[in-house]
Amino acid sequence: METKKTQVAIIGAGPSGLLLSLLLNKQGIDTVILERVTGNYVLGRIRAGVLEQGFAKLVRQAGAGHNMDTLGEVHHGVELAIDDKRVPIELTKLTGESVIVYGQVDITRDMMEEREKRGIEAIYEASNVQPHDVKSDNPYITYEKDGVKYKLECDYIAGCDGFHGVSRKTIPDELKTEYERVYPFGWLGLMSDTPPINDELIYAKTKRGFALASMRSKTRSRYYLQVPLTDKVEDWSDEKFWEELKKRMPKDAVKNLVTGKSIEKSIVPTRSFICEPLQYGNLFLVGDAGHIVPPTGAKGLNLAASDVATLYKILTRVYKQGDKKCIEQYSPIALRRVWNGVRFSWWMTDLLHNFGDDKDFYTQRMESSELEFFLNSEAGKKVIAEQYVGLPYEDLE
Ligand code: FAD
Ligand code: PHB
Repeated sequence: METKKTQVAIIGAGPSGLLLSLLLNKQGIDTVILERVTGNYVLGRIRAGVLEQGFAKLVRQAGAGHNMDTLGEVHHGVELAIDDKRVPIELTKLTGESVIVYGQVDITRDMMEEREKRGIEAIYEASNVQPHDVKSDNPYITYEKDGVKYKLECDYIAGCDGFHGVSRKTIPDELKTEYERVYPFGWLGLMSDTPPINDELIYAKTKRGFALASMRSKTRSRYYLQVPLTDKVEDWSDEKFWEELKKRMPKDAVKNLVTGKSIEKSIVPTRSFICEPLQYGNLFLVGDAGHIVPPTGAKGLNLAASDVATLYKILTRVYKQGDKKCIEQYSPIALRRVWNGVRFSWWMTDLLHNFGDDKDFYTQRMESSELEFFLNSEAGKKVIAEQYVGLPYEDLE
């Protein structure tokens, strides 16, 4: 077995792992990233599109913000639609803040390139990655690459390995509580090189189910439809997708819809999941490894970013000031913001999707009344806007 050494070992080269490594590198803290698949595979996952300013600021601090700032689009509003009634939520007017529309694939690529340029080590296609002795002062990770077994010794392990990763499983069951809600539908996404239907995103609630009109640029659109979990991508030809979208988007928006050939189509399940705590000894769970949300509030990646911000501040204090005790602040600080994001995503998901017979008639009626109340009130719209642009990051004690 060959032995390597680093200060912070990072499992997973998704957006959380890359962002953390770039930030720590700026502070002179050494990291090695271990990733199970190839870089191209990571870039094949089309996911988030909406970035909070807090996330954008971190990406700039990490030295990877150039493309985001030149190619990303600043959005000052978003629309909610109930059948054909469109309600603008004027984010900047209501909160002074905005969001940036820039794809997760692009931000990941920018961070990968920056990592390579700065010579930060990442080992792709590392198999059997396993953390050990995380409660001790000498944790380490074993893994295999090209048939050779390695031991990576480190001070701390950042588990940035997503929902299906190995890090969360390292915390014994009796020491963690997992909260979960699995929704009875998925999101079918379609990407096409066609101009977006509208300048702002439209989140649409209809009797046929939820739909979202999003975009990546002036010439690339991203649309989603709520579909039953039993549906397969093969069930949805492009034509069928466009026909259904036309029925769910508000009528006066549909006249601007430009259809075309899809360049990607996929179905993702929707669920909320939170693991408490997010720390076990010298192992930290970051991003989707510790919590996931349904995509309705555009919060998953943004919560991953606030975890990274907290862990980055903690590890900087550990290495610069020798204050090892501050690591205990990670889980409580990160979880406070996570629960807020989980609640917002739950609220948006519950109110905008069609749950069919899973919800009784009374609950359905209550929910449409609640939505109407929020959307007819300036205060209600402000509450939505404040959460959509993202709550502030909490500082360490
Ligand atoms: P991941 O992106 O899952 O990365 C984890 C990495 O770890 C992967 O590369 C994986 O290969 C690797 N890995 C896993 N196991 C191992 C192992 N054992 N060893 C080594 N490596 C391993 N969020 C938003 O904020 N805004 C949005 O608009 C938004 N839209 C979304 C739309 C959709 C359709 C979906 C599905 C998600 C959306 N999200 C959104 C959520 C967002 O995509 C995730 O929260 C984000 O990917 C989390 O990043 P991460 O780095 O924590 O995890
Ligand atoms: C996206 O553009 O992929 C996107 C935007 C907003 C969401 C979810 C996904 O809430």
